[in-house]
Amino acid sequence: MMARLGMHTLTGERGLLFGGDYNPEQWPEHVWAEDVELMRAAGVNLVTVGVFSWARIEPEPGARDFGWLDRVLDLLGEGDIAVDLATPTASPPPWLGHRWPETLPVDESGHRLWYGSRNQFCPSSPVYRERALALVTDLADRYAGHPALALWHVGNEYTQICHCDESAKAFRTWLRERYGDLDTLNEAWGTTFWSQHYSDWAEIVTPRRAPYMINPAQRLDFWRFGSDALLAHYRAERDILRERTPDIPVTTNFMGLFKPVDYWSWAQEEDIVSNDWYPDPGDPLSPARTALTHDLMRGLAKGRPWLLMEQAANGVNGRPHNLPKPPGQLRLESLQAVARGADGLCYFQWRASRFGAERFHAAMVPPAGPDTRLHAEVRAHGQELRTLASVAGREVPARVAMVFDWANWWALEERGGPSDRLNATEQLLSYYLPFWERGVSVDVVPPWAGLSGYPLVVVPNLFLVSDRDAAGLTDYVRGGGVLVVGPFSGVVDPRAHVRTGRFPAPLREVLGASGEEWLPAPEDRPVRCRWAGGGEFAAHTWTELMAAEGAEAVAEFTEGDLAGRPTVLRHRTGRGVAWYVATMPEPTALGTLTARALADAGVTGVVAELPPGVEAVRRGDVLFLLNHGPTTVSVPIPHPARDLLTGSAAAGQVTLTPRAVVALRPSENDIEIIL
Ligand code: GAL
Ligand code: ZN
Repeated sequence: MMARLGMHTLTGERGLLFGGDYNPEQWPEHVWAEDVELMRAAGVNLVTVGVFSWARIEPEPGARDFGWLDRVLDLLGEGDIAVDLATPTASPPPWLGHRWPETLPVDESGHRLWYGSRNQFCPSSPVYRERALALVTDLADRYAGHPALALWHVGNEYTQICHCDESAKAFRTWLRERYGDLDTLNEAWGTTFWSQHYSDWAEIVTPRRAPYMINPAQRLDFWRFGSDALLAHYRAERDILRERTPDIPVTTNFMGLFKPVDYWSWAQEEDIVSNDWYPDPGDPLSPARTALTHDLMRGLAKGRPWLLMEQAANGVNGRPHNLPKPPGQLRLESLQAVARGADGLCYFQWRASRFGAERFHAAMVPPAGPDTRLHAEVRAHGQELRTLASVAGREVPARVAMVFDWANWWALEERGGPSDRLNATEQLLSYYLPFWERGVSVDVVPPWAGLSGYPLVVVPNLFLVSDRDAAGLTDYVRGGGVLVVGPFSGVVDPRAHVRTGRFPAPLREVLGASGEEWLPAPEDRPVRCRWAGGGEFAAHTWTELMAAEGAEAVAEFTEGDLAGRPTVLRHRTGRGVAWYVATMPEPTALGTLTARALADAGVTGVVAELPPGVEAVRRGDVLFLLNHGPTTVSVPIPHPARDLLTGSAAAGQVTLTPRAVVALRPSENDIEIIL
């Protein structure tokens, strides 16, 4: 049997992959030869080609011009640079929208979005589908067997949502499959509210702009449909590629925590999980946010290595004010991805464009050319990655799981809740931070994942939960797990209907606590709380009127109408422990809570003491320490080791200047490592 395709299909003798998007169609051919030479000098071994080349390959309907692409692939192949060949379907040429305006997407107000930018297609348009698949077929036929072809890159960053009539029709088909008949749909959508009963399928449209708040169940299903409609298109392209090149892996580039697309359902349709990630240099939480995103990718890849498909070598140009990256930052960020399971580090893009909307976006070769500080860094980084070749394929062991789900995200942030200040990804990040600060690795998993292997499971929020997933969490605790559940969880079922009875109804028993009112807090003053063992803390934004039913109140509110009521609860039940947090504690208080839950679970960080700003993560037998902070610090290390990046020996402690990284492999005589 053929081994499953994955990053190992690409890494093998190449070691870690290094490269970027390459858009030679923007340059005269004499530049291509220089590109390949520079790429080789920089250790580039993978480039993504053709992402936006539809109009170049098919300049008019039905035409084909592959000659230039043949020469590009040949040149790269001769230079021993592997090609991640994109299907160019993310950006149709103007002729498609001009001749077939129905292929252009329509927003919720009924406005058509025009060409002149990119991504202008309706995922449900049969004309777009037909044209795109014809092109993909010819592309695959042409390059199947080309020695440079190593990976398929389907489309680019699937994002498109459409409200046109064709999309409404596809939405109805999707709903018929989900509900079978109209009565079931009417019940699921709760259409007795506001006279919304549907008497004919033809009446159902996408949630278009309406006078007031739209039915939340309709909106939730439209989120689901939107993700599925794009997935259907991705799969159609992928199937064509798989049929023609069964041993070339297929990917499409994700965008981290991107709301419109449910990556849990997508990841299982790919051979390799890849991500585009652009940390904001102006965001102080960037290092942790980035770590979380990388951990999500590892979760999507089921623990296997993944590919950082795009990052920026310097400032981007899509934000209003684009801060640059200081020297050393591109290396730090790239190595952070390696530490968290990436086997490939690629950039958008190789050579900066001279024209077009992204002419001020950073690239590996800046407009000033290769003889620059920036390109020197790129080159040094590419070369140094060779020292980490043995890390390729290794896993990142984690004993903590953090639950995240797209349907929950969609449902939680729907208008019309008690507060719009409870945000799914910010909750996730706030619960993730204290683990990151302690050097405790976290796997991000969906609510239906098998959890029994994790001593600790954290659910920052699960507003929407199915009976089955709630039962899974309950069984997990009974079997000896430690569970932490954040506020406003267990509230609605998968149809977004409120579960009646004291909340969180399906988790009430395992939590040994229940509540009766959700109480958003005034924003101009903190919510005062006290730990049972002494010590005050502040919380904000959100409170709940809770009562213990077997759980101990580990902390209580101290002011106002809730004074004396539990705010943090801990319940020993079965062989495990369940925690519930009925507010949004300030970061230090979440830190205290995390330390206690870690103690309950018997989990510690990879390094005993970690100075602020230092990230510690173990991949295989290599301990990565990364200094994101502004000062030089010393970090005690658990065993004598050798730094793979410099070859130097270390024992006792290491000193890290700002933006420094070490990759410590235990010295030969230090035999066992506790994972
Ligand atoms: C990504 C995209 C690239 C480029 C990049 C700029 O979203 O895939 O084509 O636009 O952003 O940061
Ligand atoms: Zn449409």
